[in-house]
Amino acid sequence: MTAAIAAHESLAQPLGSIDVSDPSLYEQDTWRPLFARLRREAPVHYCAASPYGPYWSVTRYNDIMTVELDHVTYSSQLGGIQLEDQPADMKRASFIRMDPPRHTAQRKTVAPVAAPNNLTSYEVAIRDRTRAVLDALPRSETFDWVDKVSIELTTMMLATLFDFPWEERRKLTYWSDVAICNVNAPDAPVHSEEERFAELLRMADVFKGLWRERAKAQPRLDLISMMAHSEGTRGMPEMEFVGNLALLIVGGNDTTRNSMSGGLLALSENPGELAKLKANPTLVPSLVAETIRYQTPVIHMRRTATRDTELAGQGIRQGDKVVMWYVSGNRDDCVIENADAFIVDRTKPRQHLSYGAGIHRCVGDRLADLQLKILWEEILARDLDIQVMGPPRRLFSNFIRGIRELPVQIRM
Ligand code: HEM
Repeated sequence: MTAAIAAHESLAQPLGSIDVSDPSLYEQDTWRPLFARLRREAPVHYCAASPYGPYWSVTRYNDIMTVELDHVTYSSQLGGIQLEDQPADMKRASFIRMDPPRHTAQRKTVAPVAAPNNLTSYEVAIRDRTRAVLDALPRSETFDWVDKVSIELTTMMLATLFDFPWEERRKLTYWSDVAICNVNAPDAPVHSEEERFAELLRMADVFKGLWRERAKAQPRLDLISMMAHSEGTRGMPEMEFVGNLALLIVGGNDTTRNSMSGGLLALSENPGELAKLKANPTLVPSLVAETIRYQTPVIHMRRTATRDTELAGQGIRQGDKVVMWYVSGNRDDCVIENADAFIVDRTKPRQHLSYGAGIHRCVGDRLADLQLKILWEEILARDLDIQVMGPPRRLFSNFIRGIRELPVQIRM
C-alpha cells in the first residue's frame, strides 16, 4: 500500500475501529497517518477489540512521558512490556518486566557493562572491527547491508558483552530473532510459542555451561560473570535466567542493528542531509541521535494500570493495558519541530523517546550511540559512496521496527 492510500484510508476509518497493533502496518511502513490522526483526534485512544484484547494507545510525547515516569500507576510487572501477553505457562520474567524493588536490584547488576569507564575500554575494539568490516565489503556489486554490516557488527559487540565463544556468535543473532519474532510472520525463525520456548531453553542450556565456568572463576566485566557473582541475580530461577538473557540479547542486538540500517536508508532518502554531514563530520553525534529518533527501533512498550486513573481526560481502569507508542511520540510536532523530517543538525537531537524514560530507561543507550558514532565516522573517513539499490524488506512486528534486508552497492 502506498503512503497516499494509507493516509486516505486512515481518514475514512471510524475512530473507534482503529487498531494500531496490526504488525503489517510496520512491515509495510504505513503507520504514520493513523498515528497522526490519533494524536490529533484521540491522543489517548481505546481499542476495544484487537487480536491482543482491548488496550489503550498513548500517542503524544508528553502523555508517554507521564506514563513512563509513573511506574507506581503503570506497572511493567503485572502484564509485561509487550501488547501481546506471554502465554501463562511460558512466562519468562526479566528485569524489564519487573517493578521495584526486584527491578532495582537486577538492573544495578548489569548497568556497569555500559557505564562510561567501561565504554572507553570497548572503543578501540569497536573501531578496529568496524574498520575491518567496512574494508572487507564488496565494491561495485550489490550486497545486503543488514547482514554484512548491521548484524555482523552488533553480533560482535554482543559476543564481547557476554564473552561468548567467538566462532559461534551468530547463534546470538538467531536467538535474538527467535526471542522477538512474531510467530505468524512467514519468515519467522519459529512458528509457534511452543517452538520459541523450546529454542530459548536450548539457548539457556548453552549459557548455563558458561555461567558455571564464570561462577567458579574470579568476577569479570562480562554480563554472565556479573550476573553469576551478584547478590541480585545469582540465585535466579531458571525462567528468570532465560528471560534476562533474552532481554540482554535483544536489547544489545536488534535495536542497534536496525539503527545501523535505518540510518543508511534515511540518509539515502535525504541526500541534502548526507551532503551536510559530509561537509561537517562533527555532526555525527547529532546524526546518531536523529537516526535513533527517526528509526524508533522499539515501536512500543506496554504497561498495566495498577489502579483507576485518568490520562489526558480518559478514564483508565485498574488492570487495563496501556501502550506507549514511541513511533508516534517521536513524530509529535507539538514537541519536536517538523518531526516527520530527517534532519541531521537539529538543535535538540536527543529529545526523543526511543530509549524510553524513567526507571526502565535503556541501560545500553551510550553503548548503542558509541557503536553508531564509530560506524559513521569510519564511513565518512573512507568517503564511501553507498547507494541503496532497492526497497528495504521490513520486519512483520508491532514491537521491533526492523529492517530485514537492505540491498546496497558501494560505488568506486
Ligand atoms: C538503538 C539502540 C537501543 C534502543 C533504541 C533501545 C531501546 C530501549 C527501550 C525503549 C527500553 C525500555 C525503556 C522504557 O521502558 O522506558 C530499553 C531498555 C533496556 N535496554 Fe535498550 N535499547 C537500545 C540498545 C541497547 C543495548 C546496546 C543494550 C545492552 C547493552 C540495551 C539493554 C537494555 C536493557 C537491559 C533494558 C532494560 C532496562 C530496565 O528495564 O531497567 N539496550 N531499551
